[in-house]
Amino acid sequence: MKILGIDTSCDETAAAVVADGREILSNVVASQIDVHQEYGGIVPELASRKHIEAINYIVRRSLAEADVTFQDLEAIAVTNRPGLIGALLVGVAAAKSLAYCHNLPLLSINHIEGHIYANVMVHDMLPFPHICLTVSGGHTLLVEVHEGWQYKVLGSTQDDAAGEVYDKVAKYLGLGFPGGKIIDDLAQKGDPLRIKFPRPMRDSGDYQFSFSGIKTSVRYFVEKAQRAGVLIKNGQKDVENTNPDMVTIEDIAASFQAAVVDILVYKSLHAAKSTGASAITLTGGVAANSELRASLKTAAAEVGAEVYYPPMSLCTDNGAMIAGIAYQKYQQGLRDGLSLNAAANGSIVDV
Ligand code: KG4
Ligand code: ZN
Repeated sequence: MKILGIDTSCDETAAAVVADGREILSNVVASQIDVHQEYGGIVPELASRKHIEAINYIVRRSLAEADVTFQDLEAIAVTNRPGLIGALLVGVAAAKSLAYCHNLPLLSINHIEGHIYANVMVHDMLPFPHICLTVSGGHTLLVEVHEGWQYKVLGSTQDDAAGEVYDKVAKYLGLGFPGGKIIDDLAQKGDPLRIKFPRPMRDSGDYQFSFSGIKTSVRYFVEKAQRAGVLIKNGQKDVENTNPDMVTIEDIAASFQAAVVDILVYKSLHAAKSTGASAITLTGGVAANSELRASLKTAAAEVGAEVYYPPMSLCTDNGAMIAGIAYQKYQQGLRDGLSLNAAANGSIVDV
C-alpha cells in the first residue's frame, strides 16, 4: 500500500512515497537554506513563498523517483501541525487538491509524530514503550512512545529549541547558518571544560527544558571576551599566546555543546530510568550531533538501555516519515475531509 507524504512545516519542501509504512520508494527534499542564510535564521514569509514555488515539482519528482503515478497511490498524507502556519498551509492546500483530483483519502499528520516514527521505520526491533528525544530547530521534547501510536509527552522546552540555540550561538560567534554542524565540528577541537556555562533546569526533577539562559550566557561571554581582546578567532587556535585569559572559539563551542548535551542526556536517561524503558531514540536535526550521540550511548549503556537514531535523511524534515506514520494511522481508520486546516500548534496527545 503506497502513500504519498508531504511536509512543508518549516524550511524544507518535502514529498515521499512509502510502501506499507516502511519501504521508502522516494524521499525528495528541497532545502531553502540558501534563501534564509543571509538573514541568519528562517524568515517565515519567505519560507511560504518558496514552498509555493517548489511544491508541485517536488511532488512530481517524488512520484517519478518512486516510479509510480497517482493511480498507484492508496492515500495522500500531509503535515498540518505544528509548524510555521503559512508554510503548513502550502502543503495542506496541495494535498487537499491532489486528494480531491485523484479521489484519494486524505490524512493529516502531526509533524512530531512523523519525527518519532522515523526511528520505528528503520529499526524493526525497536521495543515499546521507548523514550524518544526529538531535538530540532523548532522542537525539543521527551516523549514516552507506546504501542498503537499512543504517546505521553514527558516534557518539552519552555523557551528556545536546542537547534535554535545552536543557530543563535553560531551567529554570536560570527559563523554561518544553520550553526549546529559548524559548532559540532569546532567543538571537536576545543576544551569542553574551559568555560562552565549554566545548565538551566538540569536538576529540576522533571522533564522540562530551558535553553535561552545558556544562549544569553554564551552571548555575554563572547561580548566580554571581545571587549577584553582575548577571543581567538576561528582557525587561529594555534597562534602562540601566553595570556591565560585567551579563549578560543573552539573552546566556546565545546563548552557550550557540553552544557546542552549534558542537559539532554541527563533528562533522557532520567526518563528511561524512571519509566523502565530499554530504548532511547533520537530524532530531529540535532540528533546528528556527534557529542549527543556518543554521550547518550555511554550513559544509556550504564542503565542497560540502547540508543537508536535514524539516518540523517530521516532525522531532518522529510516526507517519508509522514507517509510512514500515515500508513499506521490509515490502519487505525484516520481519514480527513477537504475542510482540513493547518495549525501552528498541536500536541501529539490530542490527535
Ligand atoms: O530537523 P531540522 O532539519 O529542522 C527543523 O525542523 O528545525 O533541524 C535543524 C536544526 C538546526 O537548528 C541545526 O543547527 C541543527 O538542527 N543541527 C545540529 C547538527 N546538525 C543540524 N545541531 C547540532 N549538531 C549537529 N551536528
Ligand atoms: Zn522537524
